[in-house]
Amino acid sequence: MTTDTVRILFVGDIVGKPGRRAFQALFPFIKNREGIDFCVVNAENAAGGSGIDEKSLSFLLAAGADVVTTGDHIWRNRGVMDVADKERRLLRPANLSPEAPGRGADVYRGPRGLRVGVANLLGRVFMEPADCPFRAAANEVSRLKARASLILVDFHAEATSEKEAMGRYLDGRVTAVIGTHTHVPTADERVLPGGTAYITDIGMTGSWDSILGREVEPVVHRFVTGLPRFFAVAKDNPVLQGVVVEADTNSGRALGIRRIFESWPGGD
Ligand SMILES: [Fe+2]
Ligand SMILES: [Fe+2]
Repeated sequence: MTTDTVRILFVGDIVGKPGRRAFQALFPFIKNREGIDFCVVNAENAAGGSGIDEKSLSFLLAAGADVVTTGDHIWRNRGVMDVADKERRLLRPANLSPEAPGRGADVYRGPRGLRVGVANLLGRVFMEPADCPFRAAANEVSRLKARASLILVDFHAEATSEKEAMGRYLDGRVTAVIGTHTHVPTADERVLPGGTAYITDIGMTGSWDSILGREVEPVVHRFVTGLPRFFAVAKDNPVLQGVVVEADTNSGRALGIRRIFESWPGGD
C-alpha cells in the first residue's frame, strides 16, 4: 500500500451477540493483516438478531467500526430513532420517508485527513415500499462529491438484478457499491469498467451453523409446516464475512476488491 491508496473493510450484517463478539474479536486481527484504514459495518441485525439499539451501536463503534449502516430492520428497536438523530456515525437508508429520523449519508474523516463519504440505500424489489433508490443515490452522490474524495455505498437489497443495476448506475461516480441484506456472500466481486468496486452481497457476521444467522430447526420447521415459530439467534461457529476494497485516493477509483471469510474459534 502506498500513501495514495487506502484499504476499506466492509463487514456483512452483524447478527446478534455472536456477530457482535466475532467482529470485536476478529477486527483487530484483520485490520493488522490487511492494513485496514477505514471500516464500514452493516448492523441492522445487531440487537437480538433484528434491529439495532444504542448499546449494540456503541459496542460496534468501540470495537472499531468507523460507520455503521443499516437496512429494512432499522426501526425494529424504536429507541434507535433518538440515537439516529444524535449519532452521525449511524446511517439509515437514504430513501426512507423524508419524515424519518437520522441521515442516509454523511462525510467522515478517514486516514491522513481523507474525507470519506458513505451512503446507505434500500432496495425496493421483493421488499417493503421505499422511495426510488436510484434517484436517492444520484442525489446523495452529487451532494457527497463536493465534500469527499471517496464515496462508499451500502445497497441493502434483496434482488440481484436491482443490485447489479445500482452498481452499473453508479459506476465511475463512486468508489464502491457493496450489497448487503441477503446474509449470503456472492462470488461476483470485481471492479467495474468505470472504476467502481462491486459485489452483489458480502454476507453476514454471525453463526455459520445457521440459516441466515438463526437456528436451523425452527426455520426448517416453519418452511415444512407453514406454522409460526420463534427464530432464535444461532450461536455456533461464528464467522465474519465481508470485503476489502483498495482505492486510489487521488482518483477515488477502486483498485481491487477481495472477499474475507474469517472464523472465530473463540465463539461460544
Ligand atoms: Fe440483515
Ligand atoms: Fe435486511
